[in-house]
Amino acid sequence: MAFSLTPERQETLQDILSRYPNKMAATIPLLHLCQEQNGWVSDEVVDYVATTLELPTAHVFGVVTFYTLFFTHPMGKHHVWVCRTLSCALNGADEILERCKDKLGIDIGETTEDGQVSLHTAECLASCGTAPMMQIDKEYHENLTLDQVDVLLDRLRS
Ligand code: FES
Repeated sequence: MAFSLTPERQETLQDILSRYPNKMAATIPLLHLCQEQNGWVSDEVVDYVATTLELPTAHVFGVVTFYTLFFTHPMGKHHVWVCRTLSCALNGADEILERCKDKLGIDIGETTEDGQVSLHTAECLASCGTAPMMQIDKEYHENLTLDQVDVLLDRLRS
């Protein structure tokens, strides 16, 4: 089925387009807008973005597959990103990641059976002074302990 944005997001798209000198420059913001609505970037979303921005489908697909923040298959409702770069690694990122895997019962890149949570690793999220840290959806959780990880993940699935 063809993809299209909701009327509210159509308005947001018009606002986005007004900020750029050409349509191609709006590729990434429009992909984010579509993914926010659809949960992932399906072939239908790629077609929609290409048509809307008057771009070759291959160009849009190239952008989608280049950036790890775009998902090319269905994902969970929530995204947990565990930073594993130096400061976090030195402060227990491995243990945080293992706790997430155990508690969620999934590996990196997988989604819980109930479709609620997908687990990812991330490179430095620019919060090194408060390592170890992870991002859940759009929110940072810093100076993490394993107990805090338990609470955060329980809250996500309740
Ligand atoms: S190393 Fe984890 S936020 Fe920078």
